[in-house]
Amino acid sequence: MSAGHVPVLCEETIELVISTAPRSARDTAGHVYVDATFGRGGHSRALLARLGPEDRVIAIDRDKAAVAAGSELGAADARLEIIHARFSELASVLESRGIDSVDAVIMDLGVSSPQLDDPERGFSFRGSGPIDMRMDQSSGETAGDWLNKAEEAEIAGVIRTFGEERYAKRIARAIVQARPLETTAELAEVVRGAIPGGDRKGSSDAATRTFQAIRMFVNEELDEIDAGIRAAFNALSTGGRLAVISFHSLEDRLVKQTFRTLSKGRDLPRNLPVRAADSKPAGRVVAGPVRAGARELSENPRARSATLRVLERLG
Ligand SMILES: C[S@@+](CC[C@H](N)C(=O)[O-])C[C@H]1O[C@@H](n2cnc3c(N)ncnc32)[C@H](O)[C@@H]1O
Repeated sequence: MSAGHVPVLCEETIELVISTAPRSARDTAGHVYVDATFGRGGHSRALLARLGPEDRVIAIDRDKAAVAAGSELGAADARLEIIHARFSELASVLESRGIDSVDAVIMDLGVSSPQLDDPERGFSFRGSGPIDMRMDQSSGETAGDWLNKAEEAEIAGVIRTFGEERYAKRIARAIVQARPLETTAELAEVVRGAIPGGDRKGSSDAATRTFQAIRMFVNEELDEIDAGIRAAFNALSTGGRLAVISFHSLEDRLVKQTFRTLSKGRDLPRNLPVRAADSKPAGRVVAGPVRAGARELSENPRARSATLRVLERLG
């Protein structure tokens, strides 16, 4: 466990990326692992505990608070380097360090507990704070700025697409009528009020899907996941593995689909003769969907919705 965030499916992930990963191309320099979503470093710490003195972990996060936490860990363990970047930028992160291939990449998607728990970050419908929701507060438009000026139809489209919310139209209309919105508490009230029975205390808050949708839109999360998985797969050495942990069906569907596309390898013209080498699969799914076991579920409620999938690069 690491301060502020309990990593999910940690043992399973580390076991799957570490056990069969071959040594990196530069044998004497040790293995290179990437933790593409450092957060508070739960997966990085578990990796470091299993690595040798020559091995290294390149950690990435788009959130500067996570990078600050990573700098502390890096000061205590020189095998870890933390970089403020998006994981879609992995190729340039590695290139600038002279690394041409890595043994494994871990991507633990979504937001961390410290991001969710701090009302000032604006991710949560519990408590109240500014409607920010940016993982990287140093760039881009806040959710509040966008919501307070976007067209009603655009807001409805975002809530429907990224929240899979059937009342998206009603919610968007209510948001536009209530503008300007300043706080997450106001936004949550407006959303609950627009959903039939939305004020009723149930197992999950009626504002959950809308908050998820707005967060995903503001952070361009699905585009990031698609680009990040491709960049990670391209960076792997032969036999290297990519582990992705997702938290809801939209993410998981995209992970599964992108894994399938990447496994197939090159798109070949139909009905034309091809060399055997060209039609070989480029990757193989080696695990997934892996879900948390009973012990983890009893200790960490976040693990309930986690799904791990692992793709291995073949050549
Ligand atoms: C679920 S948390 C990771 C938790 C981490 N595995 C741990 O054990 O502490 C997800 C982290 O990924 C970061 N993140 C999400 N999307 C990102 C992206 N596209 N590029 C870089 N970091 C991203 C978030 O800022 C957050 O800190």
